[in-house]
This record gives sequence, C-alpha cells and structure tokens, in this order.
Amino acid sequence: MTPEELHASKILPIPGMLPAIARRWSPRAYADRPVSDAELRLLLEAARWAASSSNGQPWRFLVGRRPGTTYDRIAATLVPFNQQWAPLAPVLILAHAVARTPHGNTNHYALFDLGQAVAQMAVQAAALGLAVHAMGGFDRAAAQQLIGPQEDFLPGVVLALGYPGNPALLTDADMHAREHDHRARKPLEEIAFSAPGVPFGGDEPHS
Ligand SMILES: Cc1cc2nc3c(=O)[nH]c(=O)nc-3n(C[C@H](O)[C@H](O)[C@H](O)COP(=O)(O)O)c2cc1C
Repeated sequence: MTPEELHASKILPIPGMLPAIARRWSPRAYADRPVSDAELRLLLEAARWAASSSNGQPWRFLVGRRPGTTYDRIAATLVPFNQQWAPLAPVLILAHAVARTPHGNTNHYALFDLGQAVAQMAVQAAALGLAVHAMGGFDRAAAQQLIGPQEDFLPGVVLALGYPGNPALLTDADMHAREHDHRARKPLEEIAFSAPGVPFGGDEPHS
C-alpha cells in the first residue's frame, strides 16, 4: 500500500458527512514539510472561534515549531512511546486551559471548551490536508512547569501537527503496524439512547 492509498483508506465512507470530518485521523508518520505561518494562524483561528461556556475562551496554546526551543521543551514532556514518533511532526502544541473563571471560581467546563477548540483545529487541519494528533501521554508536572507554575493553568493535551508522511518513517514494527490499523468505533447503539437503556433507533416509549 502506498502512503497515498493508506491515507485514502482512512477516509470514512459515510454519506453526507462533512469531508473534513471524514478525512480527519491521527497519523504518527509526518512528512518533513513545514506548516506555513498562514496555515498555523488559520488553525488557531479555527480553535479561537469554538463555543465556550459564558464565552470564557479558556483555551491557551503554546506553539513550538521545529527547530526551536519551545518545540524541544514540549517534546521533552512526552512519554517515551510518544517520543518515538511525535518529533517527526514539524509542530508541537501544548494545549492547556485556564481552570478558573474571571471571578475566581472553578471553571468546570475548561477542559470541555479546550476539547471543542482542539476538535475544530483538527477538522480545519484535515480540510487543509494537514493532520493533528492529540496526546495525553506527557508528564503533567513538566508541562505545568513549562506553561507556568500558576495552578489555574490546566495542561490538556500535546498536539502533533504536520502533513501526513510515509509510514515507512516509523521504524518500530508496532508503530508501523498501528499506522495501518483499521479505524474502528463503538456502534451507535452503544453510545446513543432514545431513553435510558433503549438504544437510539430502537422503539421510543411514548408517554
Ligand atoms: C485526549 C487524547 C489523548 C490521546 N493520547 C494519545 C497518546 O498519548 N499517544 C498516541 O499515540 N495517541 C493518542 N491519542 C490518539 C488516539 O489514540 C486516537 O485519536 C484514537 O485512537 C482514534 O483514532 P483517530 O484519531 O485516528 O480517529 C489521544 C487522543 C486523545 C483525544
């Protein structure tokens, strides 16, 4: 399978789905091709215009571009598994959230809002032929140190960003195999319900 065939095989064949959603996936092999300033700005705009609780916009993005100190410092927070592949990506972003409202209360929606912003960024990236791969596998204390010791900053995920590359770049056999994995999800009946315990699409009890 050529890299082009592999990337094509990841596109979801779901009629009516937005093309960028159907194309979004999380590769581990990235091409040695930079992401332009304009592309990066557009991705950050896509995140910036996400919905958030009380329009609080708690998301923050520490953007590291290779070569660069910020990039190296974000890469250093990653767990060994992610360090094997993520440095192939030309951009690493430490996505974090402000966990307090301006009134000093806990913002219970901070990570939800950050997730929405990251999802919009990932879909916008897919529309541009780019890919965003989120990682929870990083050292939280090291990330906290990097974004500032203020306790109201909450590390969310590290994002690898770049153009998908040739899976042959992944020299580790397990990593290489994962890149070819079939994309799978739980069936709709397992995640959506028309009443408690009644799978969506089943008989909806009438009252
Ligand atoms: C919050 C979060 C944390 C993740 N952490 C990692 C990670 O540490 N390492 C990794 O290789 N992938 C990580 N992933 C990627 C998921 O494994 C991937 O999104 C999932 O398998 C679905 O694949 P898809 O994004 O290609 O549809 C993470 C994804 C999310 C949303």
